[in-house]
Amino acid sequence: MTNLSDAVASVAVVGATGYAGGELAAILSRHPHANLAAVFSGAKSGTTPFRSLHPSLSRATGPDAVPFDLDLLLAAKPDVVFLATPNEIAAEVVPQLLDRGVRVIDLSGAFRLRESASYPTWYGFEHPRAELLREAVYGLTEFCNGELTTARLVANPGCYPTSVLLAVRPLAALIDRDQPLICDSMSGISGAGKKSELAYSFAEVFGNFKAYGVAGHRHEPEIRQGLKLGDRATLIFVPHLLPTVRGILSTIHVAFTEPLTAEHVLALYTKAYAASHLVTVLPHGQLPELKDVVNTPRAEIGFQLLQGGKRAVLVSVIDNLLKGAASQAVQNFNRMFGYPDTEGLS
Ligand SMILES: NC(=O)c1ccc[n+]([C@@H]2O[C@H](COP(=O)([O-])OP(=O)(O)OC[C@H]3O[C@@H](n4cnc5c(N)ncnc54)[C@H](OP(=O)(O)O)[C@@H]3O)[C@@H](O)[C@H]2O)c1
Repeated sequence: MTNLSDAVASVAVVGATGYAGGELAAILSRHPHANLAAVFSGAKSGTTPFRSLHPSLSRATGPDAVPFDLDLLLAAKPDVVFLATPNEIAAEVVPQLLDRGVRVIDLSGAFRLRESASYPTWYGFEHPRAELLREAVYGLTEFCNGELTTARLVANPGCYPTSVLLAVRPLAALIDRDQPLICDSMSGISGAGKKSELAYSFAEVFGNFKAYGVAGHRHEPEIRQGLKLGDRATLIFVPHLLPTVRGILSTIHVAFTEPLTAEHVLALYTKAYAASHLVTVLPHGQLPELKDVVNTPRAEIGFQLLQGGKRAVLVSVIDNLLKGAASQAVQNFNRMFGYPDTEGLS
């Protein structure tokens, strides 16, 4: 019988030439319990050398990225496939992998929302396999309780929702749902992927700062779902584009049904994250900064009570490409196979 400490899972990454997929390739190539068997691009032809997928791979060896082809992927016999592709591609490919007995961790939003009716509105397509939305495990790792061990399909959370949910979930039962929950979230430009649109060009972003997508961002229903806000509670989610490459800082304004003390808030956070080596909660009044987490798999949360504890400002920071995407996906992989969350991430 294979000892868990010696076991190695065969893994593949689709979308390895993208920002999130490149981080995945880098982490998985160093992971003691993963064998990176194949990596794929979305190109029509040509290969991308393995060493070009991520700066940390410049002297590493591994499979070159080839144009995505389902038969080639299956020939590599992966135990788990990580998908870091556009949503529509994942919606099409995931069912084909599951039907062939391959487990999937999907970094796109194609399986995050429980209701298929939300997809035309927020994602612009009819969901091809609505029944899988019920099966998918929403992989906000710190809030998963054993379900990842048997999951066939993990819907890895979005980057903005990760930053908001980590800060708000531990306090959710005490939040006054008659008052608006306001999330001002700011992301570095890599959150948009390798886009070539004018709005994401250096000249437009450098030295600039702007809000966008108010009332229309697809992470809004994901945050609403993750906090069980229903249709009645008011959620105001305002994404902003920071003139930096990576990192998300969310400033969240909440009101409570009863005034809370700093000790009570800290106790709730401690209960939620006592076992976590990747989420740090700071003492009352100390607020985290992007530089504390960028290029790390960690999240940091700070809070300041206001108005005698009736309200609070929560501040949450993550690296969008790591805790907001690739490292959280690897945390979920670790849970699927029974390894500590930090395996391959330190
Ligand atoms: N960026 C973030 O901070 C972040 C955070 C959380 C989740 N996500 C999600 O993760 C996914 C990837 O995001 P990203 O930012 O890494 O995007 P990206 O930089 O644009 O990369 C997209 C990847 O998908 C590949 N691709 C495109 N069309 C494909 C196709 N038809 N078949 C196979 N592969 C295809 C691309 O290949 P080519 O290089 O050949 O074009 C590239 O490798 C998205 O669903 C995104 O929403 C991103």
